[in-house]
Amino acid sequence: MDFSFTDEQLMIKQAARDFARTELLPGVIERDEKEIQPVEKLKKMQEMGFMSMTANQKYGGEGMDTVSYILATEEISKIDASSAVVMSIQNSLVNWGLEQYASEEIKQKYLVPMLTGKAFGAFALSEPEAGSDATKQRTTAVEKDDYYLLNGTKNWISNASIADYFIVIAHTHPEKGHHGINAFVVEKNWDGFEIGPKENKMGLRASHTHSLMFTDVKIPKENRIGDDGFGFKFAMQSLNGGRIGIAAQALGIAQGALDLSIQYSKERKAFGKLISQHQAIAFKLAEMEVRTEASRNLVYKAAWLKDQHKEYNLAGASAKYFAAETAMFVTTEAVQIHGGYGYVKEYHVERLMREAKLTQIYEGTSEIQQIVISRAILQ
Ligand code: CAA
Repeated sequence: MDFSFTDEQLMIKQAARDFARTELLPGVIERDEKEIQPVEKLKKMQEMGFMSMTANQKYGGEGMDTVSYILATEEISKIDASSAVVMSIQNSLVNWGLEQYASEEIKQKYLVPMLTGKAFGAFALSEPEAGSDATKQRTTAVEKDDYYLLNGTKNWISNASIADYFIVIAHTHPEKGHHGINAFVVEKNWDGFEIGPKENKMGLRASHTHSLMFTDVKIPKENRIGDDGFGFKFAMQSLNGGRIGIAAQALGIAQGALDLSIQYSKERKAFGKLISQHQAIAFKLAEMEVRTEASRNLVYKAAWLKDQHKEYNLAGASAKYFAAETAMFVTTEAVQIHGGYGYVKEYHVERLMREAKLTQIYEGTSEIQQIVISRAILQ
């Protein structure tokens, strides 16, 4: 296997790193505390191409590979995972699915504006009673003459406050089980579409998460993505790639916490020497390094498999599972290494720990990844 990167991949990694340090780091603690979503900075990320990385150039995308996207996500997540999640949802769960499966008309109408910096998107699958158990969609899209009538509620929708277009999953023929589910593009200004209050989250507080309420929203028939009944498969395929993005986010959070811990342990003295010279700390750092690097290998491999058009479902779920568990482990150890300073906001690691927790939950909990992994190896 070739473990080296192309010049272009390295350039993108460096550009993301520079942007994160100069543009996102200032104010990151305050934005987290006060739940301020940095819309202008997100628009700048859009202008720089971070929101359209892997999409085809013919629609206005950057035409980059998944590895480049993952390298950029990792760098942004080290500094500001709230901005990284906006990027991840847009690239993996919105752009990718539309490009792969939507009609040319939908691509021109919705994908092109998002890829050319005029709009943002969101992905709405989860419901109050259908989070992990995603086939149990209660939202319905009843077929009428030339439209579908959408009713229901979606929960925990990232990007909801900035999105112009929403990919909404709903049941059209409940009697057909998951084969009766469809995916649609819904515009935020349509009658009957209401965005609920912002969730007061533990972490990723500068990325706003809302519920969505639909009351008799009319969706033109041409806004359905793919053939009738393709919606569940569409959602699963989108999540297969989305998991690699969140795995890269978890990797960035872990590496960010490790970097801060190395730096701190080389500055802080206790019992007459730097704490890095105490085995109690050095062994922790060694464990954090090995687990982070192991995550990196899984994440990059999953991205590489996707680029090679090889099967990446097992690799993506494995990467998401291990990187999220590692991020939780590494950030918890980082807080411990920082002692009392780790528990206050100025040192960043308590924020990283709160961010890590969400990577074990969203776009499929760690337990869902274990289901996907075990099914893949047992089939
Ligand atoms: N890739 C492609 N197809 C898949 C698939 C995958 N990973 N997993 C299942 N499918 C297909 C199956 O092949 C099957 O299709 P057929 O009947 O045509 O053969 C169909 O989907 C149903 O499969 P299962 O019977 O295996 O389904 P299940 O009910 O046992 O559930 C699951 C499988 C993996 C647990 C799935 O429900 C799942 O991934 N759940 C987690 C959902 C999730 O991640 N939710 C968070 C979304 S994030 C969000 O909405 C908010 C936001 O802001 C992003």
